[in-house]
Amino acid sequence: MGVVLVTGGAGFIGSQLVRELSGAGHRVRVLDALTYAGDRAHLIGVPHEFFHADLQDGAALRAAMDGADGAIHLAAESHVSRSLASPGAFFATNVEGTRAVLEAAQAVGLPRLLHMSTDEVFGAALPGQSFGPGDRHRPGNPYAASKAAAESLVFAWRHSFGAPVALVRCTNNYGPRQHLEKAIPCWTAMAKNNGLIVIHGDGSPRRDWLAVEDCARGLRRALEAFEPGAVDHLAGRNERSNRAVAEAVGALMGGAPVVSGPARPGQDAAYRLDDRHSRARLGWRPQVGFAEGLAATVAWCARRAG
Ligand SMILES: NC(=O)c1ccc[n+]([C@@H]2O[C@H](COP(=O)([O-])OP(=O)(O)OC[C@H]3O[C@@H](n4cnc5c(N)ncnc54)[C@H](O)[C@@H]3O)[C@@H](O)[C@H]2O)c1
Repeated sequence: MGVVLVTGGAGFIGSQLVRELSGAGHRVRVLDALTYAGDRAHLIGVPHEFFHADLQDGAALRAAMDGADGAIHLAAESHVSRSLASPGAFFATNVEGTRAVLEAAQAVGLPRLLHMSTDEVFGAALPGQSFGPGDRHRPGNPYAASKAAAESLVFAWRHSFGAPVALVRCTNNYGPRQHLEKAIPCWTAMAKNNGLIVIHGDGSPRRDWLAVEDCARGLRRALEAFEPGAVDHLAGRNERSNRAVAEAVGALMGGAPVVSGPARPGQDAAYRLDDRHSRARLGWRPQVGFAEGLAATVAWCARRAG
Protein backbone atom coordinates (compact mmCIF):
# COMPACT_ATOMS: atom_id res chain seq x y z
CA MET A 1 0.00 0.00 0.00
CA GLY A 2 2.61 2.57 0.99
CA VAL A 3 1.98 5.48 3.34
CA VAL A 4 -0.98 5.23 5.76
CA LEU A 5 -2.15 7.83 8.28
CA VAL A 6 -3.75 6.61 11.50
CA THR A 7 -5.61 9.27 13.48
CA GLY A 8 -5.77 8.37 17.17
CA GLY A 9 -2.73 6.13 16.72
CA ALA A 10 -1.53 6.72 20.30
CA GLY A 11 -4.75 5.25 21.72
CA PHE A 12 -5.74 1.66 22.48
CA ILE A 13 -6.83 0.31 19.08
CA GLY A 14 -4.74 2.85 17.17
CA SER A 15 -1.45 1.76 18.72
CA GLN A 16 -2.22 -1.88 17.86
CA LEU A 17 -3.15 -0.83 14.32
CA VAL A 18 0.13 1.06 13.90
CA ARG A 19 1.94 -2.16 14.91
CA GLU A 20 -0.15 -4.19 12.48
CA LEU A 21 0.35 -1.83 9.51
CA SER A 22 4.03 -1.30 10.16
CA GLY A 23 4.56 -5.07 10.56
CA ALA A 24 2.87 -5.60 7.18
CA GLY A 25 5.30 -3.21 5.47
CA HIS A 26 3.26 0.02 5.37
CA ARG A 27 4.89 3.35 6.24
CA VAL A 28 2.75 4.74 9.03
CA ARG A 29 1.99 8.29 10.09
CA VAL A 30 0.12 9.01 13.33
CA LEU A 31 -1.88 12.15 14.08
CA ASP A 32 -2.95 12.37 17.71
CA ALA A 33 -3.74 15.17 20.18
CA LEU A 34 -2.48 13.04 23.11
CA THR A 35 -5.55 13.61 25.24
CA TYR A 36 -5.76 11.77 28.59
CA ALA A 37 -6.48 8.64 26.48
CA GLY A 38 -3.42 8.82 24.22
CA ASP A 39 0.14 7.97 25.17
CA ARG A 40 3.21 8.04 22.95
CA ALA A 41 4.69 5.29 25.13
CA HIS A 42 2.17 2.97 23.43
CA LEU A 43 4.23 3.35 20.25
CA ILE A 44 7.73 2.82 21.62
CA GLY A 45 9.70 0.62 19.26
CA VAL A 46 7.10 0.83 16.47
CA PRO A 47 8.26 2.71 13.34
CA HIS A 48 6.05 5.73 12.60
CA GLU A 49 6.08 9.46 11.91
CA PHE A 50 4.20 11.46 14.57
CA PHE A 51 2.04 14.57 14.10
CA HIS A 52 0.99 16.02 17.46
CA ALA A 53 -2.23 17.83 16.57
CA ASP A 54 -5.94 18.06 17.27
CA LEU A 55 -8.45 16.93 14.64
CA GLN A 56 -9.72 20.51 14.50
CA ASP A 57 -6.34 21.61 13.07
CA GLY A 58 -7.06 21.39 9.35
CA ALA A 59 -3.55 22.43 8.29
CA ALA A 60 -1.99 19.65 10.39
CA LEU A 61 -4.46 17.12 9.00
CA ARG A 62 -3.66 18.13 5.43
CA ALA A 63 0.08 17.91 6.12
CA ALA A 64 -0.32 14.44 7.64
CA MET A 65 -2.43 13.27 4.66
CA ASP A 66 -0.26 14.89 1.99
CA GLY A 67 1.06 12.19 -0.34
CA ALA A 68 -0.48 9.39 1.74
CA ASP A 69 -2.13 6.41 0.05
CA GLY A 70 -4.81 6.10 2.69
CA ALA A 71 -5.95 7.00 6.19
CA ILE A 72 -7.80 5.20 8.96
CA HIS A 73 -9.69 7.59 11.23
CA LEU A 74 -9.86 6.32 14.81
CA ALA A 75 -9.30 9.46 16.91
CA ALA A 76 -12.33 9.96 19.12
CA GLU A 77 -13.62 10.49 22.61
CA SER A 78 -14.44 6.89 23.42
CA HIS A 79 -15.68 6.40 26.99
CA VAL A 80 -19.47 6.11 27.41
CA SER A 81 -19.48 7.15 31.09
CA ARG A 82 -17.64 10.38 30.25
CA SER A 83 -20.16 11.07 27.47
CA LEU A 84 -22.97 10.95 30.05
CA ALA A 85 -21.19 13.50 32.26
CA SER A 86 -19.76 15.84 29.56
CA PRO A 87 -21.23 15.19 26.12
CA GLY A 88 -19.83 18.39 24.53
CA ALA A 89 -16.31 17.04 23.97
CA PHE A 90 -17.78 14.00 22.19
CA PHE A 91 -19.58 16.11 19.60
CA ALA A 92 -16.56 18.42 19.15
CA THR A 93 -14.12 15.57 18.52
CA ASN A 94 -16.28 12.79 17.08
CA VAL A 95 -18.53 14.91 14.85
CA GLU A 96 -16.70 18.18 14.11
CA GLY A 97 -13.40 16.29 14.10
CA THR A 98 -14.73 13.81 11.54
CA ARG A 99 -15.95 16.70 9.38
CA ALA A 100 -12.43 18.17 9.54
CA VAL A 101 -10.95 14.79 8.51
CA LEU A 102 -13.36 14.54 5.56
CA GLU A 103 -12.59 18.09 4.44
CA ALA A 104 -8.83 17.59 4.69
CA ALA A 105 -9.04 14.31 2.74
CA GLN A 106 -11.05 16.10 0.07
CA ALA A 107 -8.57 18.99 -0.07
CA VAL A 108 -5.51 16.79 -0.62
CA GLY A 109 -7.29 14.22 -2.83
CA LEU A 110 -6.65 11.34 -0.42
CA PRO A 111 -7.42 8.12 -2.37
CA ARG A 112 -8.81 6.09 0.59
CA LEU A 113 -10.35 7.09 3.92
CA LEU A 114 -11.56 4.35 6.26
CA HIS A 115 -13.71 5.58 9.14
CA MET A 116 -13.87 3.59 12.40
CA SER A 117 -17.28 3.22 14.00
CA THR A 118 -18.98 1.04 16.57
CA ASP A 119 -21.77 -1.49 17.13
CA GLU A 120 -23.25 1.05 19.58
CA VAL A 121 -24.71 3.20 16.75
CA PHE A 122 -27.56 0.66 16.42
CA GLY A 123 -28.59 0.76 20.06
CA ALA A 124 -29.91 -2.33 21.81
CA ALA A 125 -30.27 -5.60 19.89
CA LEU A 126 -33.30 -7.76 20.72
CA PRO A 127 -32.68 -11.40 21.68
CA GLY A 128 -31.50 -13.21 18.54
CA GLN A 129 -31.20 -9.97 16.54
CA SER A 130 -27.90 -8.92 15.01
CA PHE A 131 -27.43 -5.76 13.00
CA GLY A 132 -26.42 -5.83 9.34
CA PRO A 133 -24.45 -3.09 7.57
CA GLY A 134 -27.54 -1.19 6.37
CA ASP A 135 -29.62 -1.25 9.54
CA ARG A 136 -30.99 1.90 11.09
CA HIS A 137 -29.17 3.89 13.81
CA ARG A 138 -30.87 4.10 17.21
CA PRO A 139 -28.04 5.23 19.53
CA GLY A 140 -28.74 4.86 23.21
CA ASN A 141 -26.13 7.15 24.81
CA PRO A 142 -24.31 10.39 23.88
CA TYR A 143 -21.11 8.56 22.79
CA ALA A 144 -23.14 6.35 20.44
CA ALA A 145 -25.08 9.36 19.17
CA SER A 146 -21.84 11.19 18.34
CA LYS A 147 -20.53 8.12 16.47
CA ALA A 148 -23.83 7.79 14.57
CA ALA A 149 -23.61 11.46 13.61
CA ALA A 150 -20.02 10.95 12.43
CA GLU A 151 -21.21 8.05 10.25
CA SER A 152 -23.88 10.31 8.76
CA LEU A 153 -21.16 12.75 7.70
CA VAL A 154 -19.18 9.93 6.07
CA PHE A 155 -22.28 8.79 4.12
CA ALA A 156 -23.07 12.41 3.16
CA TRP A 157 -19.53 13.00 1.82
CA ARG A 158 -19.83 9.81 -0.22
CA HIS A 159 -23.24 10.81 -1.61
CA SER A 160 -22.59 14.52 -2.20
CA PHE A 161 -18.97 14.52 -3.35
CA GLY A 162 -18.31 10.90 -4.37
CA ALA A 163 -15.61 10.90 -1.67
CA PRO A 164 -13.53 7.67 -1.54
CA VAL A 165 -14.65 6.76 1.97
CA ALA A 166 -15.60 3.48 3.63
CA LEU A 167 -16.60 2.49 7.11
CA VAL A 168 -15.86 -0.31 9.59
CA ARG A 169 -17.89 -1.02 12.72
CA CYS A 170 -16.62 -3.35 15.40
CA THR A 171 -17.69 -4.76 18.74
CA ASN A 172 -16.05 -4.31 22.19
CA ASN A 173 -12.28 -4.61 21.94
CA TYR A 174 -10.09 -5.96 24.73
CA GLY A 175 -6.32 -6.27 24.97
CA PRO A 176 -3.15 -4.52 26.10
CA ARG A 177 -2.78 -0.72 26.26
CA GLN A 178 -6.45 -0.01 26.98
CA HIS A 179 -7.07 2.88 29.35
CA LEU A 180 -7.73 1.81 32.95
CA GLU A 181 -11.15 3.52 32.91
CA LYS A 182 -12.56 0.85 30.53
CA ALA A 183 -14.39 -2.27 31.76
CA ILE A 184 -11.78 -5.06 31.83
CA PRO A 185 -8.86 -2.84 32.96
CA CYS A 186 -11.08 -1.21 35.59
CA TRP A 187 -12.31 -4.56 36.95
CA THR A 188 -8.71 -5.82 37.07
CA ALA A 189 -7.62 -2.72 39.00
CA MET A 190 -10.53 -3.12 41.46
CA ALA A 191 -9.64 -6.77 42.05
CA LYS A 192 -5.99 -5.88 42.61
CA ASN A 193 -6.52 -2.81 44.79
CA ASN A 194 -9.79 -3.59 46.64
CA GLY A 195 -10.09 -7.37 46.44
CA LEU A 196 -13.54 -7.16 44.85
CA ILE A 197 -15.13 -6.05 41.58
CA VAL A 198 -18.12 -3.66 41.53
CA ILE A 199 -20.10 -3.76 38.29
CA HIS A 200 -22.86 -1.47 36.95
CA GLY A 201 -26.23 -2.88 38.07
CA ASP A 202 -26.80 -6.63 37.81
CA GLY A 203 -24.30 -7.10 34.97
CA SER A 204 -26.92 -8.63 32.67
CA PRO A 205 -26.12 -6.48 29.58
CA ARG A 206 -24.44 -8.60 26.91
CA ARG A 207 -21.48 -7.54 24.76
CA ASP A 208 -19.46 -9.21 22.03
CA TRP A 209 -15.70 -9.23 22.70
CA LEU A 210 -13.05 -8.89 19.98
CA ALA A 211 -9.30 -9.07 20.66
CA VAL A 212 -7.62 -5.81 19.64
CA GLU A 213 -5.06 -7.78 17.60
CA ASP A 214 -7.93 -9.27 15.55
CA CYS A 215 -9.57 -5.88 15.17
CA ALA A 216 -6.31 -4.38 13.86
CA ARG A 217 -5.92 -7.25 11.38
CA GLY A 218 -9.48 -6.64 10.17
CA LEU A 219 -8.87 -2.90 9.76
CA ARG A 220 -5.71 -3.56 7.75
CA ARG A 221 -7.63 -5.97 5.52
CA ALA A 222 -10.42 -3.40 5.06
CA LEU A 223 -7.86 -0.82 3.94
CA GLU A 224 -6.07 -3.23 1.61
CA ALA A 225 -9.41 -4.44 0.14
CA PHE A 226 -10.71 -0.85 0.07
CA GLU A 227 -13.95 -0.29 -1.83
CA PRO A 228 -15.47 3.21 -1.77
CA GLY A 229 -18.81 3.09 0.04
CA ALA A 230 -18.14 -0.30 1.68
CA VAL A 231 -19.50 -0.89 5.19
CA ASP A 232 -17.80 -3.73 7.06
CA HIS A 233 -18.49 -5.35 10.41
CA LEU A 234 -15.88 -6.98 12.64
CA ALA A 235 -17.25 -9.15 15.45
CA GLY A 236 -15.62 -11.65 17.77
CA ARG A 237 -18.76 -13.86 17.88
CA ASN A 238 -17.94 -14.13 21.52
CA GLU A 239 -20.91 -12.73 23.38
CA ARG A 240 -21.11 -12.76 27.18
CA SER A 241 -22.89 -10.91 29.94
CA ASN A 242 -20.86 -8.21 31.67
CA ARG A 243 -21.18 -10.20 34.90
CA ALA A 244 -19.70 -13.31 33.26
CA VAL A 245 -16.68 -11.33 31.99
CA ALA A 246 -16.21 -9.63 35.38
CA GLU A 247 -16.33 -13.05 37.07
CA ALA A 248 -13.71 -14.36 34.64
CA VAL A 249 -11.50 -11.37 35.50
CA GLY A 250 -12.10 -12.00 39.22
CA ALA A 251 -11.10 -15.65 38.82
CA LEU A 252 -7.88 -14.67 37.02
CA MET A 253 -7.16 -12.22 39.87
CA GLY A 254 -7.21 -14.91 42.53
CA GLY A 255 -10.96 -15.25 43.11
CA ALA A 256 -12.07 -11.64 43.64
CA PRO A 257 -15.89 -11.61 44.09
CA VAL A 258 -18.20 -9.57 41.83
CA VAL A 259 -20.85 -7.34 43.43
CA SER A 260 -23.53 -5.09 41.95
CA GLY A 261 -23.24 -1.30 42.16
CA PRO A 262 -25.54 1.43 40.80
CA ALA A 263 -26.76 0.83 37.24
CA ARG A 264 -25.36 3.12 34.55
CA PRO A 265 -27.98 5.30 32.81
CA GLY A 266 -28.70 4.46 29.17
CA GLN A 267 -27.25 0.95 29.41
CA ASP A 268 -28.34 -1.10 26.36
CA ALA A 269 -29.26 -4.76 26.90
CA ALA A 270 -27.09 -6.11 24.06
CA TYR A 271 -25.02 -5.06 21.04
CA ARG A 272 -24.61 -7.53 18.19
CA LEU A 273 -23.16 -7.22 14.67
CA ASP A 274 -23.74 -9.55 11.73
CA ASP A 275 -20.25 -9.82 10.18
CA ARG A 276 -20.87 -12.63 7.63
CA HIS A 277 -20.51 -10.35 4.61
CA SER A 278 -17.22 -8.89 5.86
CA ARG A 279 -15.70 -12.24 6.82
CA ALA A 280 -16.24 -13.37 3.22
CA ARG A 281 -15.23 -10.07 1.59
CA LEU A 282 -12.11 -9.53 3.67
CA GLY A 283 -11.09 -13.17 4.17
CA TRP A 284 -10.89 -12.27 7.87
CA ARG A 285 -11.75 -14.12 11.05
CA PRO A 286 -10.58 -13.69 14.64
CA GLN A 287 -7.55 -15.71 15.69
CA VAL A 288 -7.28 -14.98 19.43
CA GLY A 289 -9.29 -17.28 21.74
CA PHE A 290 -11.14 -15.44 24.52
CA ALA A 291 -9.64 -17.39 27.44
CA GLU A 292 -6.10 -16.85 26.18
CA GLY A 293 -6.72 -13.19 25.20
CA LEU A 294 -8.42 -12.36 28.50
CA ALA A 295 -5.62 -13.91 30.55
CA ALA A 296 -3.00 -11.87 28.67
CA THR A 297 -5.10 -8.70 29.01
CA VAL A 298 -5.68 -9.12 32.72
CA ALA A 299 -1.97 -9.80 33.28
CA TRP A 300 -1.11 -6.60 31.37
CA CYS A 301 -3.72 -4.55 33.27
CA ALA A 302 -2.62 -5.94 36.64
CA ARG A 303 0.95 -4.80 35.98
CA ARG A 304 -0.34 -1.29 35.16
CA ALA A 305 -3.00 -0.92 37.88
CA GLY A 306 -2.51 0.81 41.21
N1 LIG B 1 -12.43 0.32 22.18
C1 LIG B 1 -13.49 -0.28 21.66
O1 LIG B 1 -13.95 -1.32 22.17
C2 LIG B 1 -14.14 0.28 20.42
C3 LIG B 1 -15.20 -0.45 19.85
C4 LIG B 1 -15.80 0.05 18.68
C5 LIG B 1 -15.32 1.21 18.10
N2 LIG B 1 -14.30 1.90 18.68
C6 LIG B 1 -13.81 3.13 18.03
O2 LIG B 1 -12.43 2.93 17.75
C7 LIG B 1 -11.73 4.16 17.83
C8 LIG B 1 -10.56 4.03 18.78
O3 LIG B 1 -11.04 3.64 20.06
P1 LIG B 1 -10.05 3.41 21.27
O4 LIG B 1 -10.73 2.52 22.23
O5 LIG B 1 -8.69 3.06 20.77
O6 LIG B 1 -10.01 4.88 21.89
P2 LIG B 1 -8.95 5.55 22.86
O7 LIG B 1 -9.76 6.48 23.71
O8 LIG B 1 -8.08 4.54 23.51
O9 LIG B 1 -8.02 6.40 21.89
C9 LIG B 1 -8.45 7.56 21.25
C10 LIG B 1 -7.22 8.30 20.71
O10 LIG B 1 -7.68 9.47 20.01
C11 LIG B 1 -6.93 10.59 20.44
N3 LIG B 1 -7.78 11.77 20.36
C12 LIG B 1 -8.89 12.04 21.10
N4 LIG B 1 -9.39 13.23 20.75
C13 LIG B 1 -8.60 13.71 19.76
C14 LIG B 1 -8.63 14.91 18.99
N5 LIG B 1 -9.58 15.85 19.18
N6 LIG B 1 -7.69 15.08 18.04
C15 LIG B 1 -6.73 14.14 17.84
N7 LIG B 1 -6.63 13.00 18.57
C16 LIG B 1 -7.57 12.80 19.51
C17 LIG B 1 -6.52 10.28 21.87
O11 LIG B 1 -5.37 11.00 22.28
C18 LIG B 1 -6.26 8.76 21.80
O12 LIG B 1 -4.92 8.51 21.43
C19 LIG B 1 -12.76 5.21 18.24
O13 LIG B 1 -13.22 5.84 17.07
C20 LIG B 1 -13.89 4.39 18.87
O14 LIG B 1 -15.14 5.04 18.74
C21 LIG B 1 -13.70 1.45 19.84
